[in-house]
Amino acid sequence: MQGGGFAQEFPRVRPRRLRGTPALRRMVAEHRLHPAEFILPAFVREGIAEPVAVSSMPGVVQHTLDSLRKAAAEAAEAGVGGIMLFGVPEEEKKDAVGTPGTDPDGILQRALRAVVAEAGNALVVMSDLCLDEVTDHGHCGVLDAAGRVDNDATLERYAEMARVQAEAGAHLLGPSGMMDGQVGHVRRALDAAGRADVGLLAYTAKYASAFYGPFREAVNSSLTGDRKTYQQDPPNAREALRELALDVAEGADAVMVKPGLPYLDILRQVADASPVPVAAYQISGEYAMVEAAAERGWLERERAIDETLMAFKRAGADMVLTYWATEAARRLRDA
Ligand code: PBG
Repeated sequence: MQGGGFAQEFPRVRPRRLRGTPALRRMVAEHRLHPAEFILPAFVREGIAEPVAVSSMPGVVQHTLDSLRKAAAEAAEAGVGGIMLFGVPEEEKKDAVGTPGTDPDGILQRALRAVVAEAGNALVVMSDLCLDEVTDHGHCGVLDAAGRVDNDATLERYAEMARVQAEAGAHLLGPSGMMDGQVGHVRRALDAAGRADVGLLAYTAKYASAFYGPFREAVNSSLTGDRKTYQQDPPNAREALRELALDVAEGADAVMVKPGLPYLDILRQVADASPVPVAAYQISGEYAMVEAAAERGWLERERAIDETLMAFKRAGADMVLTYWATEAARRLRDA
């Protein structure tokens, strides 16, 4: 075949035609971001008079109750769909069983009441249901005599946490400790307490990830070891589907994949198989990477953020937990 002939024969098909103008691109876009699908994770710390910056997450703070209330109102104003609260108790209140997590006046419960009062009609108010923020050893469960995380004893603590979080007004609870049976156990405890109305957003496929690093600073974590005996091992995809089947059977109202970007393959598989809504959690380390690169001028910050959010949509997420929720929602509103 002669070289010149090619130029006339090809291209026969011209995909570039639909990329030619902003109007064309907008019309044929397969996916769109909407503020209602964003969930803002927020930290609230006991015993501080002013918000405290989280140095490894520029722009994120540990809130006071007052500043949290304001952040919730701003998120609601921007059209954000929900807020996920994490409580950071005073250091001396942490103990082996995580007492601040079941204290009706614990910081997370106080934060729930404040946010529900401030924005509970506009936002879905959620809370992390886990022990790592409230134990003095920093694990997501209670320990047995040998220092191992005791699955079934932990479930009893989760049941009690679920009751006090429901009582404080949470709409959805997020069991995030990766204990076996946690969804079913918490569901039964809520039902028995007359709180069949409170739903569960289950952390279904949660991997033992290095990308949680900055979160440890954000919650003043006391952890010294790792969570590899309860969170999933990064090489494994199949068990994500097993966890999905279990969580759905146990009564999860929605499920989550976490981290986000390094696990988009898992998100796609879970989204294809799930009968319930699927959330992706764009975690602290993912946030830190983009902010750090942008700070150095190595990435165009806003484009990069929006591109990551679109990646979750493309991979099948119905909701995205992101520390950029309010900012991204405002950008969509002002576009
Ligand atoms: C557990 C929990 C963690 C995160 C959310 N819930 C920490 C962990 O599992 O080690 C991490 C979120 C993030 O990194 O942004 N309570």
